[in-house]
Amino acid sequence: MIEDWKSYEPLLIPDIPNLHKIDVYEENDGYSALRTVLNDQEKWSRTDVTNEVKAANIRGRGGAGFNAGLKWSFMPEPDDRPRYLACNGDESEPGTFKDRNIFEFNPHIFIEGALIAAYAMSVDTIYVYIRGEYIDWVHILEQAVEEAYDRGYLGKDILGKGIDIDLHVTYGAGAYICGEETGMLESLEGKRGYPRVKPPFPAQKGLWGNPTTINNIETLANVPLVINNGAEWYQSIGAEGHNGPVLYGISGHVNKPGVYEYPAGMSVEDLIYEVAGGIRGGKKLKALIPGGTSTPVLRADQLEGVSMDSNSLRDAGSMMGTAGMVVMDEDTDMVDLLWRISHFFHHESCGQCTPCREGTGWLEKVLLKIKNGEGEIKDLDLLLDVTTQMEGRTICALADAAAWPVRHTINRFRDEFEARCKKSVHAVA
Ligand SMILES: Cc1cc2nc3c(=O)[nH]c(=O)nc-3n(C[C@H](O)[C@H](O)[C@H](O)COP(=O)(O)O)c2cc1C
Ligand code: SF4
Repeated sequence: MIEDWKSYEPLLIPDIPNLHKIDVYEENDGYSALRTVLNDQEKWSRTDVTNEVKAANIRGRGGAGFNAGLKWSFMPEPDDRPRYLACNGDESEPGTFKDRNIFEFNPHIFIEGALIAAYAMSVDTIYVYIRGEYIDWVHILEQAVEEAYDRGYLGKDILGKGIDIDLHVTYGAGAYICGEETGMLESLEGKRGYPRVKPPFPAQKGLWGNPTTINNIETLANVPLVINNGAEWYQSIGAEGHNGPVLYGISGHVNKPGVYEYPAGMSVEDLIYEVAGGIRGGKKLKALIPGGTSTPVLRADQLEGVSMDSNSLRDAGSMMGTAGMVVMDEDTDMVDLLWRISHFFHHESCGQCTPCREGTGWLEKVLLKIKNGEGEIKDLDLLLDVTTQMEGRTICALADAAAWPVRHTINRFRDEFEARCKKSVHAVA
């Protein structure tokens, strides 16, 4: 649990006016990590950079929390094929809206991180994939990329150090499935965003069949911090096993929703009551979805002493996900909430796998029945059974992401679901 958070100074998005402009970024030490690496490639060999990032244990901020440096080390030795870094800014899961702030307020820290990652993996081309609804942020990033080309940080012979790296910004058309890494690769190739069967994994066979690594925007924004300050320093921020700064996206029934940067491991209570100004209208907390709608909901009585890091949330029965916290007050209708979440996943299923295509449809349909007062108790068991038929049986994790909220919300708020069913039986009778 982080005690001294009030004195924390943001690292990913410092409070510096116009930091999105390259002059201001450079005045504030911007691109110094890239210079450090490229100016001394003997000290900072590609392997050294990867090892430093691995030792720092930057946990992927796209949801799965995988060690970024370790992922980079899965890239095969360079051969005559092109190599790619695909940066995931699709950010489509309800409750998740933090990469947007990096694009808006500090795009160069992300570009710098992506360049260092590209250097470490001998990548020559970087793609950034952004959700289509973020068109304003696409333009902000494009402007930053243009500035970086003009200053010699991108393109041929970067900083005169014999390294060539290009970066292309592209955007989707608003499909959540294009955030799944292989769905994103398909979309980047100009095809329908159908996730691919793995193996082969993208490091072996990614974009156009070539070695590719996929990282989230916030993950890459952490990289310059590690190069400038070292893995040990990075490890000293945050919680045991979950280091570094985190962009917490807090939404729902709080007085001050927004994106707030603090170390990993902040107490849920501090985040809700101090940082986000407490519950609207002085109401009581009922529940929290900690990391985007695919992460299991927790009841207020499960949150005592819980902090926002993977170990604490696992022990409490949930996951860190993207740290997109959805706060719900005592008036929240959990049946309504769950139906709304299930509607989203049904709508976003790409339809390739039967358990997902049919399962998400069934979940939504049965929940709508319960929501409309036409459900029976046995429907709850049917819903739980459908979730077990979906989990772990599909090409990608969207089916799991759809199944978990249903299972946990029903199990953790069973009374509420039963009451709705019973009421309906009376009403019908
Ligand atoms: C259905 C689905 C949607 C996803 N959407 C995103 C997304 O919008 N952004 C993201 O970074 N990761 C998303 N992911 C996770 C990515 O597949 C991948 O794990 C991540 O981009 C890797 O980056 P990281 O290791 O830096 O976190 C999604 C996964 C699934 C299954
Ligand atoms: S699990 Fe769902 S979203 Fe993922 S590939 Fe299968 S049908 Fe498509």
